[in-house]
Amino acid sequence: MARLLITNAKALVGTHPASTKRIPGRRMATLPLIENGWLLIEEGRISDMGTMSDLPNELDRAHLPRIDASGRYVLPGWCDPHTHTVFAAPREGEFVDRIKGLSYQEIAARGGGILNSAAKLRAMSEEDLFEQAKARLEGTIRQGTVAVEIKSGYGLTAESELKMLRVVKRLQAALPIPIKATLLAAHALPPEYAEDRAAYIDLIVNELIPRVKAEGLADHVDTFCETNYFTVAEMERVLAAGATLGLPGKVHVNQFTSIGGVEAAVRQGALSVDHLEVMEPADLDALVGSGTIPTLLPSCSFFLRIPYGPARELMERDLPLALATDHNPGSTPSGNMNLVLSLACIHLRMLPEEAINAMTLNGAAAMGLENEVGSLTVGKRANIIITRPVPSLAFLPYAFGTDHIDTVLIDGAPFRTGEVLA
Ligand code: NIG
Ligand code: FE
Repeated sequence: MARLLITNAKALVGTHPASTKRIPGRRMATLPLIENGWLLIEEGRISDMGTMSDLPNELDRAHLPRIDASGRYVLPGWCDPHTHTVFAAPREGEFVDRIKGLSYQEIAARGGGILNSAAKLRAMSEEDLFEQAKARLEGTIRQGTVAVEIKSGYGLTAESELKMLRVVKRLQAALPIPIKATLLAAHALPPEYAEDRAAYIDLIVNELIPRVKAEGLADHVDTFCETNYFTVAEMERVLAAGATLGLPGKVHVNQFTSIGGVEAAVRQGALSVDHLEVMEPADLDALVGSGTIPTLLPSCSFFLRIPYGPARELMERDLPLALATDHNPGSTPSGNMNLVLSLACIHLRMLPEEAINAMTLNGAAAMGLENEVGSLTVGKRANIIITRPVPSLAFLPYAFGTDHIDTVLIDGAPFRTGEVLA
């Protein structure tokens, strides 16, 4: 049996019991850990753990592959529940335009933004899209991401949206991490439908959603519900069609304006509401008592210089806040969850423990992966980060921009190796 033993960890972090599926806001400051720990991996899953003083003799004497994690933290890898990692080209020209003073909305109104990405994606082959996205994802796995959600939304025709989702399916087969796929056909209104919005929603509801369900190409549906993009009523049609076929919503709401999207998404049973940079009290209240997970994207706020979401207010309402990168060419050209950790602590005023819970177990829950990843729990996949020697957990977000990760294990196998396995 393939086994691997990690010993002498400064701490095993995020040792939640299997019964904890998501962590409500007021409990997020508590991050369970085992100091001076050992952890056993068998057949790619976590099979046992404890403190070094209790390491069973037979394990200690067994000739197992072993990692000495002295001075290092062992954590569940980062779970990133909101990305647009499949895209055709970067948009650094728009970045420079924003430095010169244009806003994200002004650039979109000039034909840039999502429509710019759609024109490039429609012209690119499935093979090239796959190769580029695979390289991007491999980079983020080396940065500690061990589970990810990826959206379509740069095709904006039936054919090109399906092409994007086929690329995601190939990524699922080619890479060892769990990947969830989301149909985001309602990302921007394609110019072809400028005179008949309802026809585009009809296409999504009557053709695309049944087709992606039948072909197993998506797990979720999404809509960019926003002034100048899609209305609350349009989002509700998409969410209702998805829910009927067992594809729960994960939606873009309240990025620039509050137009009632949060309450509608909750009503439609969405799994998550994402962005939330602009929240009225009624939006916050709508989430209380629901099963919908609020997900904040601080690296998007950083890059676009827009407000940061109200993390503390969401946690005060005892909601299980999650964090994600939003990796995409327009608003967040970074899939680095380590940066998200620092921004969450610095700009969202989350404690390191709160942020780590938000980007592990709550992130996993925001993709329906809470039974597979997100914590160091017996039975879960051994998708694990081993840090370099660091003085404390708070040092991880504190020393921002520094690479603290030594080794990333996926199903117990090294994806990125540093000195502990060298
Ligand atoms: O989540 N806001 C909508 N969609 C993306 C950005 C898309 C783009 O600019 O290409 C986001 O920020
Ligand atoms: Fe997004």
